[in-house]
Amino acid sequence: MSNTILIGAQWGDEGKGKVIDLLAEKSDYIVRFQGGNNAGHTVDLGGNKVVLHHIPSGILHRKTVCVIGNGVVLDLGAFFEEVEMLRRRGITVRGRLFVSDRAHIIFDYHRLIDQLREECQGRGKIGTTKRGIGPCYGDKVNRLGIRLCDLMNLNVFRERLKMVLKEKNAMLKKIYRHRPFSFTAMYRTYSQYRRRIAPFVRNTSLLLDQADRKRKRILFEGAQGTLLDVDHGTYPYVTSSNASAGGAIAGTGMSPRRISDVIGVVKAYTTRVGEGPFPTIFPPDLLSHIQTRGEEFGATTGRPRRCGWFDAVVVRHSILVNGLSKIVVMKLDVLDGLPKIKICVAYRYRGKRYKHFPADLEVLEHAQPVYQELPGWQTPTHEARRWGDLPMNARRYLRQLETILKVPIALVSVGSERSQTVSIDGTLW
Ligand code: IMP
Repeated sequence: MSNTILIGAQWGDEGKGKVIDLLAEKSDYIVRFQGGNNAGHTVDLGGNKVVLHHIPSGILHRKTVCVIGNGVVLDLGAFFEEVEMLRRRGITVRGRLFVSDRAHIIFDYHRLIDQLREECQGRGKIGTTKRGIGPCYGDKVNRLGIRLCDLMNLNVFRERLKMVLKEKNAMLKKIYRHRPFSFTAMYRTYSQYRRRIAPFVRNTSLLLDQADRKRKRILFEGAQGTLLDVDHGTYPYVTSSNASAGGAIAGTGMSPRRISDVIGVVKAYTTRVGEGPFPTIFPPDLLSHIQTRGEEFGATTGRPRRCGWFDAVVVRHSILVNGLSKIVVMKLDVLDGLPKIKICVAYRYRGKRYKHFPADLEVLEHAQPVYQELPGWQTPTHEARRWGDLPMNARRYLRQLETILKVPIALVSVGSERSQTVSIDGTLW
């Protein structure tokens, strides 16, 4: 494995944290390239669950260098809390965790505006994590953002914060009737943050270029999932960054010519947290069974995730926009014991059959899934370690997914622990 991008191929929460943790053994650098602390990557360390929001999950491997690229938006308070949580667990980050000087900062006004907007939207709300992600990326594109390098230079920071706060305070007052933020208090807080973040700040494009020239293996860790990508997802029910493979290029400054592989992570079924269309949702009984069995509650917000059958229309779309060469299937064990398993192979709407994922929200909201049905398996899979250990019908299910998707499955996960993994082709683990 050389330079590899690993992304979520559904609506996020596919279990990328565990896969990154496995691949970290063969990686020298692990890089986040988009999103912020809306992400929640859970890693099971011998029964101890660690949830990381900002910092790449690779930090748990002491020899890997972790990088937060320019495409990430950083909540400094949340970042320091995570560093402190790791310190309490005996994991030091100094000298092996770096943040791009071009990364944009999430400020208190971003979080507040995210919350106020969601409250005002009523039925039209996105169901965001309320971490200020959308407003921060909005400011970036509007050229009203403040980057870490701006914070490093207090002259620049003072001027930009003054200018931005003027606009934010007017907006808070006029639209939301909310009290304004004090420039003095905010300036003081961030000047203190500045001292603490300084040792982590680097030109990370240069750092990665040097690593690549030394033939170090770089793993790009996607957050959220392709269907939440601001361009390729179910807009407007998406996050505000490019969660697909393309985001790794713009979000780090690494040339596309230096990427050798793109791997997609899927669950053996589908889940979604937040609002937006979800064609293959389970009927209520099955929904609560899978929610409980699969512990389908958001790692960041604790909200229950909607769950449904594997949607091959969704994953085909991910294969297309990411160029996936391999797929990793997570949480196969959650389907143990079901009498029948369904795979959605197309949608039907107003007499038309859709094999490729449509952009039109109306089609998505009313699409009827076209299912293939397979027999389930009644034996537990969580002890399986090799292909031959899996029940015959589980193997059939996986082979059928490969046939429909035309992409090989490299790895299957049957539990949250590292050891509960079945390597299919030996290429990843
Ligand atoms: P935001 O990223 O907080 O703006 O939220 C936008 C949408 O993305 C909402 O539907 C969120 O629930 C969803 N979302 C954001 N981060 C994640 C994640 O890490 N996993 C799953 N869904 C997410």
